[in-house]
Amino acid sequence: MIIDKEAAIQKLLEGDVVALPTETVYGLAALADNPQAVQKVFFTKGRPQDNPLIVHLEGVHQVSRFAEEPDEAARRLMDVYWPGPLTIVLPKRSDVPDVITAGLDSVALRVPAHTTILDILRETGPLVAPSANPSGKPSPTKAHHVEQDYEGKVLVVDGGSTQIGLESTVVDCRNPNEFMILRPGALDAFSLSQTAQIPVRYWNDGALDERRSPGMKYTHYKPQASVYWIESQQHPNGSLKASLPDDTLLILHTAKEPELFPGRVVHVKGDFSTMATLLYDLFRWADRIGLPQIYIESLPDETLHPILPALKNRISRAIGEYN
Ligand code: TXA
Ligand code: MG
Repeated sequence: MIIDKEAAIQKLLEGDVVALPTETVYGLAALADNPQAVQKVFFTKGRPQDNPLIVHLEGVHQVSRFAEEPDEAARRLMDVYWPGPLTIVLPKRSDVPDVITAGLDSVALRVPAHTTILDILRETGPLVAPSANPSGKPSPTKAHHVEQDYEGKVLVVDGGSTQIGLESTVVDCRNPNEFMILRPGALDAFSLSQTAQIPVRYWNDGALDERRSPGMKYTHYKPQASVYWIESQQHPNGSLKASLPDDTLLILHTAKEPELFPGRVVHVKGDFSTMATLLYDLFRWADRIGLPQIYIESLPDETLHPILPALKNRISRAIGEYN
């Protein structure tokens, strides 16, 4: 059910969960200092209890309520990128409830860049907010996605379409010599290391298993349709025409002659930010109209655009390449 900002503040203060817009995706919010309310978030999403939540703050001054003092490099990231699509993992203070951190000794913190949730945070205090989708599904990027996912049973504030469309970059800032990106997002390793003035690298399969983000082991971002890569070089001559069934959603970014392809074609014409903004909505649209497969033109080298590592990560997960 859609409610306004004032009703959302009221409901949150009473210990209810409310879905709120951020600049990345919609989050399912509850008061961080109310363990029963936090528990409701897990229950509503069907989220595994061992997957910790991000605490959303109104500003950097609230960090010390949850985390040990960040070092200078982490502080630089917060000063430059907050409010924004950056989640920082720090050693937690011992009084942060285990229900938030899934018993870990670290806590994930973020100041979102969306006036609606910032206005609400100023009235409610810190809020936990995982992406508002039922566990495993693509994150909601519009209020009506939340309405559809929970058949109108979850309260939601409509803040329009989310600007970025993919979840925040999660960075583990506990090692003062090198930060590690646990989940890629709109901010890439290059920009982060420039600002932090220390190396920032991507966590990758096989390395440092114990430092993996707990959420990475679960299936994520998957539509019901099967998702596949389609090689860029196969496009120009239309040789795939025969092999792609009509009931296909085809997402292209460079292919020359989209009309050569059967099915429904969305062409973002090299605009990867738009591709990120639209991705989950397109996944959901394919499911709603019953398209059983989605083909996505394979992406170029990740250094070409900051959103590419995140786009590749989410599409690979939807394909099931990491599962
Ligand atoms: O953009 C976003 O981050 C959105 C919006 C609503 O803010 N939120 C979001 O939350 O994507 P969620 O819960 O869907 O994803 C949080 C990720 C999970 O993979 C979780 O395992 C990881 O962050 N995480 C949370 N706390 C952590 C911690 N202490 N250490 C490592 N990873 C953590
Ligand atoms: Mg999520």
